Amino acid sequence: MDRRHFLLAGCKACAALAAVPAIASLESCSTAKAAGSTALAVENGVLSIPVASLSNGVGLVSAKGLDNKLYISKGTDGTYKALVLHCPHKGGPVKPSGDTLVCSWHGSIFDMDGKVTKGPSQQGLKTYPVEVAGDVLKVRVA
Ligand code: FES
Repeated sequence: MDRRHFLLAGCKACAALAAVPAIASLESCSTAKAAGSTALAVENGVLSIPVASLSNGVGLVSAKGLDNKLYISKGTDGTYKALVLHCPHKGGPVKPSGDTLVCSWHGSIFDMDGKVTKGPSQQGLKTYPVEVAGDVLKVRVA
């Protein structure tokens, strides 16, 4: 990859990350909320996420009681998915990159349904069931 293509790929990745809103508070920084953030916590095995906190049905979620961030997305059929951003290969962090989710440790790539499109991971991302209850998503994480 030459310099020009490297820079273009980097800009596309940054633009994709900027388009995904991060919601929720950080456990280590509970008093320093970003504008528009919502304090979230798992209660009785369920994480409640206000739909309004997502941008076009998409968002990164971290919450007290969750070991890993979740990628929440709304499919074309109107249903929501909650993907765990923890690589099944060796536990690396997985992040959105364009239309894919990428593990930064060894380069596994997953589609937006969490299925592996490029290894070394042999397994897809873990998902949690999501129910819509009015204007809140209920993600069963336990
Ligand atoms: S830990 Fe993700 S590809 Fe190895």
